[in-house]
Amino acid sequence: MKKVLYVDCCVRRENSRTAVIAKHFLDKLDKNKYDIEELCLMDEPMEYFKDGFFEQRERLLADKKFDHPRFRYAWQFKNADKIVIAAPFWDLSFPALLKVYIENLCVEGITFDCNAENGCFGVCNADKLVYITSRGGNYNNNPMEMGARYIEAMCGFFGIEKFKCIAADGIDMVEDPTPIINEAIKEAEKEAAEL
Ligand SMILES: Cc1cc2nc3c(=O)[nH]c(=O)nc-3n(C[C@H](O)[C@H](O)[C@H](O)COP(=O)(O)O)c2cc1C
Repeated sequence: MKKVLYVDCCVRRENSRTAVIAKHFLDKLDKNKYDIEELCLMDEPMEYFKDGFFEQRERLLADKKFDHPRFRYAWQFKNADKIVIAAPFWDLSFPALLKVYIENLCVEGITFDCNAENGCFGVCNADKLVYITSRGGNYNNNPMEMGARYIEAMCGFFGIEKFKCIAADGIDMVEDPTPIINEAIKEAEKEAAEL
């Protein structure tokens, strides 16, 4: 069985349109092939780096104590075979909660390594990351869109070769966004069937 890590950052939970698209993706996954592990960021005691929490990390890394519980997110991410992240488009990117998660993922010695010859390079197992989002405005191919583009760049950093974004774009610009959401659901189901 392959491990799919589903990272849920749909802050509005049951009211989230992004979550609806992600649910269709997960439902369509072949359960004989994939085990789904769900990480709901809203339920996690996630901390951003400052003061003691930052200093603790520096100490643990200096002592190479990679088995400390605070690194569990990095290990879980590193060991997944496929990764699915769902997050709404907020303030031209995504909720700060997802950035805090990424901050906790970036651990030299777990998700990436560095050496003089190659600089920094990713060492995560996954070969593909699927990013599911929905956006109030139309941002497809717009350089002001910095959510999907940032996640794609992080895939490069983590050594994940393939990136796919499924976006329901412009859903707050129309009276009835159902057709836009349905189109994204169709794309999500196709992507899941071919994962
Ligand atoms: C805090 C916040 C920030 C947002 N920022 C943007 C934005 O910068 N650009 C945009 O087009 N829509 C923005 N939106 C609208 C959301 O992208 C849109 O409603 C999206 O579908 C929300 O997804 P959800 O239904 O999964 O929560 C924002 C919404 C919220 C609540």
